[in-house]
This record gives sequence, C-alpha cells and structure tokens, in this order.
Amino acid sequence: MPSEFARRLASFGPDIRLGLDDLGFTDPDSVYASVIAIAERNYSERTKKLKARDLAQPADWFQSEKAVGYVAYTDRFAGDLNGVAKRIPYLKSLGITYLHLMPLLQPRPGENDGGYAVMNYREVNPAIGSMKDLAELTEKLHDNEITLTIDLVLNHVAREHEWAVRAENGDPKYQAYFYVYPDRVTPDEFEACLPEVFPDFAPGNFTWSEELHAWVWTTFNSYQWDVNWSNPEVLLEYLDIIGFLANQGVDCLRLDAIAFMWKRLGTSSQNLPEVHSITQILRAFARIVAPSLIFQAEAIVGPHDIGAYLGKGKYAGKVSDVAYHNSLMVQIWSALAARDSRLMEVALNRFEALPVGTTWTTYLRCHDDIGWAIDDSDASSLGWDGFGHRSFLANFYSGGFEGSFARGEVFQYNPETGDRRISGSTASLAGLEIAIHNQNQDQINEAIDRIVLGYTIVYGFGGLPLLYMGDELGLLNDHSYRENIEESGDNRWMHRPYFPQEDGPYSTSVAQELTQRLTLLATARKALPALHARQTTRVSSTSAPAVSFVTREGEFGQLLEIYNVSENNITLDLAELPYPIEPVDLITGHSVVVTGDALHIPAFAAFWVGPA
Ligand code: GLC
Repeated sequence: MPSEFARRLASFGPDIRLGLDDLGFTDPDSVYASVIAIAERNYSERTKKLKARDLAQPADWFQSEKAVGYVAYTDRFAGDLNGVAKRIPYLKSLGITYLHLMPLLQPRPGENDGGYAVMNYREVNPAIGSMKDLAELTEKLHDNEITLTIDLVLNHVAREHEWAVRAENGDPKYQAYFYVYPDRVTPDEFEACLPEVFPDFAPGNFTWSEELHAWVWTTFNSYQWDVNWSNPEVLLEYLDIIGFLANQGVDCLRLDAIAFMWKRLGTSSQNLPEVHSITQILRAFARIVAPSLIFQAEAIVGPHDIGAYLGKGKYAGKVSDVAYHNSLMVQIWSALAARDSRLMEVALNRFEALPVGTTWTTYLRCHDDIGWAIDDSDASSLGWDGFGHRSFLANFYSGGFEGSFARGEVFQYNPETGDRRISGSTASLAGLEIAIHNQNQDQINEAIDRIVLGYTIVYGFGGLPLLYMGDELGLLNDHSYRENIEESGDNRWMHRPYFPQEDGPYSTSVAQELTQRLTLLATARKALPALHARQTTRVSSTSAPAVSFVTREGEFGQLLEIYNVSENNITLDLAELPYPIEPVDLITGHSVVVTGDALHIPAFAAFWVGPA
C-alpha cells in the first residue's frame, strides 16, 4: 500500500508541476524535485497528533454554520500568547470556533505596519511569546475546538529580514530575491500603470536603497521590500515556511496582500494569473504536507477579480479556501448611511456562485481602513453617481456630513483620484461615540441596533463570519496611538483598541447588551444549517428602500432574513415576501408582527425567519 505521503503526492503533485510550468521557470523539473524534497522533510517533521488531525478534520469545517470567527491582536487582546490561552473560555462564551491572531511573527523593530513587516518568519514576536508558546496555544485551542489563523505575508519582507540584509551586503543570490533597479528607467515604466496603496505616507512604489545604490520595489511602506516570486528560490523559501508554520499546528494562513505578488510591465501588477498559479503550488504543497491547513486570501479587489482567488476555471478547488468579502462590508456601511439597501442588491448579486468547497469570510470591520469600493455602473443602475456616492460616504463617515451619526477619520486622501478611505471603530462609525458624547439614550440604543444589524447581516450571509475584537464591547475610537511615535502617522491604529480592564467600559450596560445580543446571534446561527456556506445567498430589495431580504436556499433548507437599515418603522405588504413565513425571529424567539396583510418591520430590524 502506498504511504499517505505517496498517495497525496500522486494526487497533488501534478498541481505543483502545472503551476511551475505556468510560472515559466527555466528548469521546472529541478524546481519540482526541490519542492518534493521540502514537502518530504516537513511531512516527516509533522507530529503524529497533527497528522491525525489532518485525517480527522471535516473538509467543510470553515463552511459550517457552526463556524464563527474572532480577530484580535495578541497583545491588545490578552497581553501575550499565554494570555490568549487564558481567554479561551471568553472566546467560547461568544461562540467562537475560529481565531485569527493578527500578525504575530517577528516584525522589524520600530514602525512595522502593524506587524506586516516581517523580519523572521520562524520566530514569534518576542514581545508576545515564542514559537513554543504558539505551538502550545494551538494545542489548547484545538482541545477547545477552536482553530488558529495567522498571517503569512507573501508579498514583502521587512528590510531587516535576513534576505534583504544579505542583498544589501552585496550577495547576488539574495539581490535576486527582490526587484532591484539601478536607475529610474524601469521603475518609471512600471509606475505609469501602478496605483498607490499608501499615497499619503508612502507615495510611489519604489524606494532608493543607499546600500544597494538602487531602487527597490516597495508597494507598501519603504521598509517593506516586495519579494520577487519569479525567482524559484523565493517559492522554495516560502514553501518551507508554510510547512514550518503548519507544523506548529496553525490551521489557516491568511495570505496577506496576495494580489500584488506578480508584476508585469504595462499592467497594474495586481490580480495577474500567475498569482493564482503560485497559490495553486502553495495549496497543493499544503495538501501533501498538512491537508487540514487552509488558506484565507486577503485580496481587497473588485468583484470581477475576487472570484479567481477562490478558484475560477482551471484553478477551481486549487487555490484559497476563503476570501474576504470586502464588498459586503462596504455595502453594509453604505446602506446604513444612506438608509437605503438597494445598492446592496445590485452589488452583491453580481458575484458569481463560489466554487464548491470555498467560502467568504464576512466582516463588518477589520484592522484596515474602509475603501469605498462602489462600482460606477452599480451606482448608475440606481440613477446614482458613483463618485458622488463615494464622496457622500467619505463625508458621512469622517463626520463632515451634516447630521451624520458617524465619527471616523479620512485615511489616505488621494488627490489624484479623490479617494478618501476611512478609519474608525465599528462602534464609533455606527454612532455610539456621538451618542455617548451627547448622553442621549435613544441615540445609544440606535447605535447598538446598528451594530447588531450589521453583524446580523455578517453572520447570516453564509460565509465564515468574523467578529472584530472589541465590537462585542462597543469599543470606541482609541486615539492613544497619536502619542506613540511608531503609530502616530497611521490612523488605522484608532480602530485597533486594547481589550479593556475588567472594571473599565467592559462592564458597562452597552458592552453587556452588545455581548449578549452578539452571543445570541452566534447561537442562532449555529442552529441553522441553512447558513452552511454550501447554500446560495440572494439579496433582494423591496418597495421600501431601507428594507431588504436575504434568502438562503439549498439542500439544508430555506432561511429568509429581513433587514431594515433605517430608524423608521416600516410596513410591507405580505405579498412582497418570497414565500409565506413562520412569523418568529429565529434569533431572539420574538414574534414578527403581522396584522392582516401587513408585515411590521421596526427600525433596524434584523429578523431571520423560516418558511411557514
Ligand atoms: C494588508 C494588511 C494591511 C497591510 C498591508 C501591507 O492589506 O491587511 O494592514 O498594511 O497588507 O502588508
């Protein structure tokens, strides 16, 4: 009988081989041989316990209605990795089964883009623990049926990473790990088509290195050097890193900034097909070494490009397993500001059905800014001007719009495009900060309702929902970053708060109510197989612009979700429902009021109902 390794190699080796051909390497056979040698070594280093887990973990664990995620910075949430272990009971009380700890590998000293400038992939940030602590934490999480996701930054390393240091010291092997140009000719040619990710604090995509006496590609900050994936040595390095991290018991790697990994002159150097060929190789490698490991693509790209990250065409079933649903997040905030969810219908229904075995991670807020990814043609289908609506949202959420409930700030104003992205915590953007400032209980209640409504859409959409740490407590914008020299230039830190001390706002009635309602939501979700990711989702608007329906259909049954994004009570004719319903909200158990032919939908209603 062939060994488990041989069996998997026979199944997934061809994906690696084909991927190598796609990348156009000069000697794909020898690269393939190296890949297999790395796979064999990592497989032999994998513990028995993890090998058993590989066989036991159900293939759809991240698609299950039982899956609920939580995203937190280790230090801000719990001090260090051992502190996270102590908070497992807390996570369980919220119904969490999937924990994403924000970048935790050793970052460069000083400013490090929130940990996304990694200096050493094989060490944990010493401020929060060691690799041994990480492996121990994954075991404890597994014992409690929680999986662990960590970030793997594939597009760049810190300029203090050994590869970059060796490159700067003149080693040609390592210089070939990066994009290095002696003058501005090629950088300028590329720049003609490249967008700027951080136009404000890191303009341009290239940085002059005194040591190299050359320009180095740095898409993000000047201290984050893009690695050159067209060099097979880079691929081999990362495969070995993936094996190493998987062997610490990590269940999911969040592939950071994956869209940028391949560059081609005359293009935006984003979303190029080679990115998917690379992912196919990484994925096949993982399936051989550690098949319970999954990939979460961080590709904040347009609706036309995102599908490819979950595997379109020849990549179906071969790339990432989950991907951020950025549009859903944008559409929720857009609907809340406009009190109109019609754009949601247009924008969300245009997504193609996802490949079997994949799903979205759905979220209301994360550690990054919100970019107003509103499509011009979607907006014009409602008679709206895309630019105008994006401006409205930027004004609304940065507090520059008369009567806005939100308190956020502009992140990275781009004068060339007029884009204004937004920073701010869920609670502050949803109105809680202003409400508390005004000491207005009605406004406080509305803000809580808005947060719960947003999360109900997120938990009910049919992907893997992510609760962002602090949202369950209504944590407001935290301006303490301004006092910290390493953070003060980047206002995304305002929505990366610290988990409060037990006697702080943590115990306020707002925090208690939010925690209680979000916990109820998780419990309701887990009892509804209709929310398994294998089902399909459709959004439909109604005769009331503020009210929309989300329907879940498929082999596991029907679910109808009814959302009202406004502060008005609304009545709809029962005939608008797609089918007769059992008038009970499956989240709270409360009745949904029907009188005669009228369905009463209170302000900020978020109901889940089943068929009659
Ligand atoms: C991702 C991260 C973001 C970071 C960037 C560069 O988009 O989410 O926080 O700044 O990558 O690593």
